[in-house]
Amino acid sequence: MNKPMLILINLLLLAGIAACGEKSTVKMAEGPHENTLLHADIEHGNATDDAEEHYESSSAPDLANGRRQFSKCKVCHTVLKGGRHKVGPNLYGILGRPAASTAGFRYSSALKNAGIVWDEAKLDQWIRSPRNTVPGTSMSFIGIRDEKSRGDLLAYVLKESAAPD
Ligand code: HEC
Repeated sequence: MNKPMLILINLLLLAGIAACGEKSTVKMAEGPHENTLLHADIEHGNATDDAEEHYESSSAPDLANGRRQFSKCKVCHTVLKGGRHKVGPNLYGILGRPAASTAGFRYSSALKNAGIVWDEAKLDQWIRSPRNTVPGTSMSFIGIRDEKSRGDLLAYVLKESAAPD
């Protein structure tokens, strides 16, 4: 193969990869494009990767990852029964409990007055952004944007916080 041809193929490859990165999810729905064969092959490869990711995010929670995610919380929280309060309250039995109701912890008035009962949806919202969920909360944690990570974390917290002694 001569040199100009090689350069051309390289350019095509680069263009293909750049285009795929931007909107691979949309392309998945559209199916492979009708561009050059080279381009279509690359898009196809990318769409497959994407499909695997989607499959993963709809599968059962990964408790090992949940435990790893909890390292972001455990500077401030214990979760098992009888665990001490740190900067944040012990989280034992959190599911179904009114917010700010654990004895012996000084909650912010914002959380005390929020009128929240912790169910899974509310906890998910809280972990995504405590500040947006309850403006004025004293939990200074930015939140976790990634849905899958939140799901794994929440599964871990709910399991541990409901564990018998
Ligand atoms: C920097 C310390 C800190 C970190 C990190 C932190 N929290 Fe908190 N958390 C707090 C404080 C302080 C409160 C009490 C908030 C208030 O009174 O407004 C709280 C409250 C909570 C509550 C409500 C408890 C109740 O009894 O109503 C939950 C649930 C919670 N945190 C979960 C988490 C999870 C899950 C993580 C990890 C993703 C986390 N927190 C990370 C400090 C922290």
